[in-house]
Amino acid sequence: FDAIEVIIAKRDRGELSTAQIDWVIDAYTRGEVADEQMSALLMAILLNGMNRREIADWTQAMIRSGERMDWSSLDRPTADKHSTGGVGDKITLPLAPLVAACGAYVPQLSGRGLGHTGGTLDKLESIPGWRASLSNDEMLDVIRSAGAVVCAAGAGLAPADKKLYALRDVTGTVESIPLIASSIMSKKIAEGTGSLVLDVKAGSGAFMRNVDDARELARTMVELGTDAGVRTVALLTAMDRPLGLKVGNALEVEESLEVLAGGGPADVVELTVRLAREMLEAAGVPDARDPEEALKDGSAMDAWRRMIAAQGGDPDAPLPKAAESAVVTAPASGTLRTLDALKVGLAAWRLGAGRARKEDPVSAGAGVVLHAKPGDAVREGTPLMTLYADEAGRFDRALQALEGAYEIGEDGGADLLPLVIDR
Ligand code: URA
Repeated sequence: FDAIEVIIAKRDRGELSTAQIDWVIDAYTRGEVADEQMSALLMAILLNGMNRREIADWTQAMIRSGERMDWSSLDRPTADKHSTGGVGDKITLPLAPLVAACGAYVPQLSGRGLGHTGGTLDKLESIPGWRASLSNDEMLDVIRSAGAVVCAAGAGLAPADKKLYALRDVTGTVESIPLIASSIMSKKIAEGTGSLVLDVKAGSGAFMRNVDDARELARTMVELGTDAGVRTVALLTAMDRPLGLKVGNALEVEESLEVLAGGGPADVVELTVRLAREMLEAAGVPDARDPEEALKDGSAMDAWRRMIAAQGGDPDAPLPKAAESAVVTAPASGTLRTLDALKVGLAAWRLGAGRARKEDPVSAGAGVVLHAKPGDAVREGTPLMTLYADEAGRFDRALQALEGAYEIGEDGGADLLPLVIDR
């Protein structure tokens, strides 16, 4: 094959053959197809799409570029969850130990923050001593002792996706349903989980702003998982406003601990419990415990403590706090009608919770704490949110990001997406 021939085929809206796809992914991973050629092909795919067969072949070729993990030595079924990303989405933190406490093993490979969206590994790294990088043997040890492991994917897992993702990031080719679906699913299938629940977000703070696009992404991923023998389910959930009340790294660990202690904001608890039920059902755990019970009786918290300690973290260490804070007060009395997820996410990013460049560190303590959510009554002059940063110089740009982020009205008729839009 020849790269130019493959590019031209997709440029002219043709269908790529299985052999062409296998070749181009393999040759690109080996450095035989150049970045500029792959960039052109990715743009042709973004503009002209791929059919179901092409997406499945593309995904399988990315899986074959690296190793495939195997959990068959474990004595219980495995289940994982993947969220397409959002603002305040800390669900993995309470969910992984919760599902472990209810009877399934959770082998979860997670990522770091991307743009305005937070990353599970960045959040967990705010716990003193906690390590994101584990060898495959260490992963197995953690899962045997704690029931759940959340860590970074090693270099050997879907290396083609690592290279392609970095290229898409700088060539305007991220927002393509076939490319997002194959990227996510290649990693989840290679991870070796027996079942997978996808939390596909829709709204301003999500990759897919509108529900129809989110639905198509969800369908595509469910088909890819199912075809690869992974029992896969997707929920479409709301990301028009932030999830929970805390957005940031240590702040989200703090809120997760509230949930594991049997409290926490209603939306975070509801989604955590719903996803736990879906995971246990998809995994087919015969005598699964009730997730609500496991939150109340402390067994989910016990699993959390084992999981954190097994990865070098100190579950009793105080979490880092930001040095500076600033309060945003309500400009009027009434009902908080909207609170834009994207704008709150951008503010948290500018406060230091996210990165400006890939190699930057994140601030553990930075972020936003909300004092009201859409639908709540607010009074003029009372705190609406508190911003946290390591340097006071960050507040101005965060406040700019929050311009127009909320609307206070006379009536309560806030036009919000339901928390779970569809299954
Ligand atoms: N997350 C991924 O892993 N890949 C994408 O393409 C988008 C989000």
